[in-house]
Amino acid sequence: MKALFLPEFSKNWDLVPKDISLPDVGPYDVEVDIAYCGINNRDMVIARGEYPNIKSPLILGTDISGHVSKVGSKVDGFDIGDPVSRYPITGCNKCSFCIAGKPNICNTRSILNGGYAEKIIVDHSNLVKVPREIDMMTAACLPVTYLTAWHILCEKVSIQPSDSIVIFGSSGGLGIALVQLSSYFGSNVIAITSSDNKSEHLKKIGANHTIDRQRQNIRKDVLRITSGEGVDIVIDPVGGKVVTNSTTLLKPMGKLVVSGRLIGQFPKIDLLEIFRNELQIVGTSMGTRTDYDDLISFMKRQSFQAQVDQVHSLDDLTIPHKRLVSGNTIGKILYSC
Ligand SMILES: NC(=O)c1ccc[n+]([C@@H]2O[C@H](COP(=O)([O-])OP(=O)(O)OC[C@H]3O[C@@H](n4cnc5c(N)ncnc54)[C@H](OP(=O)(O)O)[C@@H]3O)[C@@H](O)[C@H]2O)c1
Ligand SMILES: [Zn+2]
Repeated sequence: MKALFLPEFSKNWDLVPKDISLPDVGPYDVEVDIAYCGINNRDMVIARGEYPNIKSPLILGTDISGHVSKVGSKVDGFDIGDPVSRYPITGCNKCSFCIAGKPNICNTRSILNGGYAEKIIVDHSNLVKVPREIDMMTAACLPVTYLTAWHILCEKVSIQPSDSIVIFGSSGGLGIALVQLSSYFGSNVIAITSSDNKSEHLKKIGANHTIDRQRQNIRKDVLRITSGEGVDIVIDPVGGKVVTNSTTLLKPMGKLVVSGRLIGQFPKIDLLEIFRNELQIVGTSMGTRTDYDDLISFMKRQSFQAQVDQVHSLDDLTIPHKRLVSGNTIGKILYSC
């Protein structure tokens, strides 16, 4: 089968196509014919060699959807042809967090790769059945960004229809999932973005307001939109000064959710602002298996579709990654495998 290898870490994501044979399916494994694999910002961080505890060579790709093609002798509940996706995290299975079903915050967690390929072998405990109502492209968008968005909104901040929310990086993979879901939950969504084209699209999928971070004064506009009050929640996957300034967008008792450091800088935070206004800073790391199952049930019930920017074949070695780096995406980029 064909797979795209990253032979060594490099700034340019130098992927190499290879024909490889998969090992035999172990008793607790399932082989999956991959339909689509989502590309994440995380893949770029790994490719550059900046992600902790990952060694090259490797096959990138966390977000898979596909169909079962072989089932291990001790696996129950999966049949050949079943549509599936993969909960992307494994933990130690021993610490208190793993026992509580939260491998996403286990000290020795790892996030699974291997999806830029035609097939993959998955331990049955990470495999999740996808109901027929969810299309395979949507299913390939769920494991990283939609899971994270669900975990943030439903678990970390328990979003309410009365909440106002500012979302940075709105047109990216994580941002667009946050915009869609918080709009579905009835909140007043202020999406921070960077062009008229992106603003228009974000409004179509549920943003009540958009602010162009390159042309407008974010604080002034957030205060105008909220009649001078500020918002209940700010979600920031960007980092650096965005975090520093985000505390000034919150109303007293507001929550700042820190979910990434896209621009690689550590922020300075004004602690006076934090305690004077009783603000909360909330960290978030992907989501639990229960979140993943809940997300899939929700997607099925609501006939919800993920936002896909572009789909590329495994022959496209550079275009998908160049597009991700360009910052012009609106939603997820997928490999069709
Ligand atoms: N905590 C978690 O569990 C978790 C899970 C998933 C992702 N993340 C993190 O979240 C971040 C975003 O991931 P992603 O997959 O959504 O990335 P992505 O698809 O590349 O999107 C990033 C978006 O951020 C905005 N942006 C880019 N440069 C910016 C800058 N200098 N200042 C402000 N905004 C900027 C752009 O949107 P606009 O043009 O609309 O502004 C861009 O589309 C990454 O750091 C990733 O590691 C964390
Ligand atoms: Zn653990």
